[in-house]
Amino acid sequence: MAKPKKRYVCQACGSVSHRWQGQCADCAEWNTLTEDAPATVFSMKHDLSSGGRAVEFVDLNKPGEMPIRQKTGLAEFDRALGGGLVPGSAILMGGDPGIGKSTLLLQAAARVAREGHSVVYVSGEEATGQVRMRAARLGLSDASVKLAAATGVRDILTTLGSMETPKFLVIDSIQTMHSDTIEGAPGTVSQVRGCAFELIRYAKENGVALVLVGHVTKDGNIAGPRVLEHMVDVVMSFEGERSHQYRILRALKNRFGAVDEIGVFAMAGDGLEEVENPSMLFLSGRDQPMAGSSVFPAMEGTRPVLVEIQALIVRLQSGATPRRAVVGWDNGRLAMLLAVLESRCGLSFSSAEVYLNVAGGYRLSDPAADLAVAAALVSALADKPLPDRSVWLGEVSLAGEVRPVAHGGVRMREAAKLGFKRGFGPSDPKNASPDLDYSGLGQLANLVDRVMSS
Ligand code: TYD
Ligand code: MG
Repeated sequence: MAKPKKRYVCQACGSVSHRWQGQCADCAEWNTLTEDAPATVFSMKHDLSSGGRAVEFVDLNKPGEMPIRQKTGLAEFDRALGGGLVPGSAILMGGDPGIGKSTLLLQAAARVAREGHSVVYVSGEEATGQVRMRAARLGLSDASVKLAAATGVRDILTTLGSMETPKFLVIDSIQTMHSDTIEGAPGTVSQVRGCAFELIRYAKENGVALVLVGHVTKDGNIAGPRVLEHMVDVVMSFEGERSHQYRILRALKNRFGAVDEIGVFAMAGDGLEEVENPSMLFLSGRDQPMAGSSVFPAMEGTRPVLVEIQALIVRLQSGATPRRAVVGWDNGRLAMLLAVLESRCGLSFSSAEVYLNVAGGYRLSDPAADLAVAAALVSALADKPLPDRSVWLGEVSLAGEVRPVAHGGVRMREAAKLGFKRGFGPSDPKNASPDLDYSGLGQLANLVDRVMSS
């Protein structure tokens, strides 16, 4: 048999190459290629068309077998999961270090344990004393969570096999786990993948709801890059700015439910508090309208969330290259909007620095926020506040049209319920609502005229 070729796997993006290089050819990260266990090469002469077991087929409409969910009792967590934990499923929980993953999972674990279920929490990052101290701070010391500090997957699975099967198993984190059947240090792609595979198999065979905590790399991928995302049933991301109080739990993938509901939490001195009604959280609560600030009616699943967008424009005297800095919104999208405002509306940002911030640590990805961002930019440039108590909604095309968006009418109605008086958006009547004073804009240039002449 031919000697298997060496393979090198990029630890940042998971791409495979057959020779070592200083820089990954796919993601351009430096020093991320490490040698991986060689893939077993099967000879093509094997005939696979006989000798296997028969595979059973079932009809799509076979009744029953709907997953029965186990509610954790942490309502915002259950909501983001699509209704609770599914036995025999694997959840990957990603998020920046220090955002509160361990805190959230300890709280969820304690809730499930208090319901009388067996719960195991394995920490590979902290000593049991540290986790216990946190539990005391969170007022959870009385919950009968079985706590262990371990990193060996063989040890963990052996122990689990000799005790009452837990309902809920937390592994914090998958990057610290180590399997002695696989070469490489903990955290390398092959270790992360191999350990996750063993743990997920255990969970599926025993009907355990498993949560794997995963750290996020610089570019926002859950490390053990992407390889874990297709192995698990649910991928959750815990987001927020560490300097802000609010945290959002979002499902990026869910084999058992929709991915549009979010869970909202506030980090307090004694852990994460659930925020049941997040609609007004991301507003600054200022009485006086200010130049450069607009409000966007976002929709998170079934709940409306009003978000304040702030823009600051600083004119430069010298010929230095102006900065564009964005927090909570897409850089490329800002560049596009600035280009549209310049070429379709005759505004000039070329000698000005542009800063854009989404208030409260909220992250916007909905293109329906284009108009609200444009409104904040134009208002900042003109140094004129937008109409008091107004919301802005619409996607902006390269041609400068304000395009209709999903759930426009609902968002306007919700904004009206929360005390907003004026709505601006696409001309399409579906986006309007009789509950507030609505103006259809058609073209972005209409927005500019309005703000400049106010
Ligand atoms: P942690 O859950 O350890 O984050 P992760 O597991 O995602 O790395 O939370 C870390 C931060 O949360 C820590 O810096 C302090 C803050 N925190 C509070 O503000 N209040 C609390 O009750 C707890 C437990 C943590
Ligand atoms: Mg942690």
